[in-house]
Amino acid sequence: MNVTNKVKIGVAGLGTVGAGVLKIINTHSELLRARTGTTLEITAVSGRNQNKDRGVSLEGLTWYDNAVDLAKDPDVDVVLELIGGSEGVAKDLCVTALSMEKHVVTANKALLAIHGTELAELAEKHNVSLAYEAAVAGGIPIVKALREGLAGNAISRVYGILNGTCNYILTEMEETGGEFGSILQDAQKLGYAEADPSFDVDGVDTAHKLAILTSLAFGTPVDFNSVYIEGIRNVTAADIAAAEEFGYRIKLLGVSRRTAEGIEQRVHPCMVCTDTAIANVSNVFNAVVADGDFVDSTVYVGRGAGEGPTASAVVADIVDIAMDRRCPTFGVPIKEMTPLPTASIENHVGCYYVCLTVYDRPGVIADVSAVFRDEDISIESLLQRGRSESEAVSVVLVTHEAQEAAVARALSKIENFAHSVATPRMIRIVSL
Ligand code: NDP
Ligand code: HSE
Repeated sequence: MNVTNKVKIGVAGLGTVGAGVLKIINTHSELLRARTGTTLEITAVSGRNQNKDRGVSLEGLTWYDNAVDLAKDPDVDVVLELIGGSEGVAKDLCVTALSMEKHVVTANKALLAIHGTELAELAEKHNVSLAYEAAVAGGIPIVKALREGLAGNAISRVYGILNGTCNYILTEMEETGGEFGSILQDAQKLGYAEADPSFDVDGVDTAHKLAILTSLAFGTPVDFNSVYIEGIRNVTAADIAAAEEFGYRIKLLGVSRRTAEGIEQRVHPCMVCTDTAIANVSNVFNAVVADGDFVDSTVYVGRGAGEGPTASAVVADIVDIAMDRRCPTFGVPIKEMTPLPTASIENHVGCYYVCLTVYDRPGVIADVSAVFRDEDISIESLLQRGRSESEAVSVVLVTHEAQEAAVARALSKIENFAHSVATPRMIRIVSL
């Protein structure tokens, strides 16, 4: 691609992110020219509905009903894939563009989590960039930080709040006591949620992003299938209140860690101490912490979703391409990627918050304690909510460090008690 005078850009997908990119390039055309020494020009676009008002003019741009045709346009040097989905048109578009030796910029973490390694291989084969800063943590330049800024370090752990929608929901539930469903609708209206918001609330979107971060951090092929995933659907207002009483806040975290057993990748609600940096990252903000052997711990915070922040990351990738700044897609060339074993969540050791719903009968607490004793789990504190002979009450407890498998066995035994009314629930407590 000749990038000396003009970079000709085709934008496929004109929703929250795509329209945002057009707005930035229109607003900052002169700034971007000064920074890159070239003109960034949108030449072609693709969407489903040509007549939709997108709050930005499409005048003079070539329209494609079929996004894959946009990649074939000789007047397009760089293809932006801003449609979404791990299969179908998004993937076809990227494969076509890369095979035609066109650079690709995408915000599509689902695509990269599932097909990232094969697409990186294709980009490498055709000597073009596959750039995806917007795919992880919205406006935070975490891909650049891990791949370039921390290149002198062996990374031991990377974790964070990676989903703006979930963080928004948890913050609103905590601050307003609002109901999950209506808060999710607000997040959708604000352009934070995925086309299928179950990807957000069930932890899948966080897992997509975590799989990408893991590959960047540890030089492994992207391995989404090894991520343990739990979402926030089962987090209740009562859990949030109990967390506060114990000195914690609930956050959906993605954690990737090098252990003696292998790489641990897990996504689940966590209780984090209220005085930690991550506990105080609220609303749509994301935070990523990366621990390197020489740099120590580094923290990155910013808006994780929405038009402006996400489009900002896409434009940063376009600028890199315009300036011919190139890196292997996941930090190392494909031949240097090394698969590592997966550490099982069952061997995870930590403290746990447990919530039981039981009949308030004499001996219940003794039975519960006996189960924990038999599994060699020590209880740090225990609270009973309410007092009723005939109705169920909540018993919440916090354990000392225990092994996940032992906690799972204990909860399964308690569920089978005659005085147990609902499936016991637990939230992992993380020390950061
Ligand atoms: P939207 O749903 O707002 O936009 C999707 C766009 O894709 C729409 O313009 C739609 O067209 C277009 N589209 C759908 N199907 C086709 C098709 N077959 N051919 C051409 N165009 C098509 O999604 P977002 O902008 O929110 O997300 C886009 C991508 O960015 C996704 O991968 C998402 O995960 C990712 N992302 C989103 C973030 C956010 O905050 N929203 C943040 C980070 C990443 P039409 O408008 O005509 O219906
Ligand atoms: N749905 C995603 C989120 C968009 O809420 O974080 C940003 O990737």
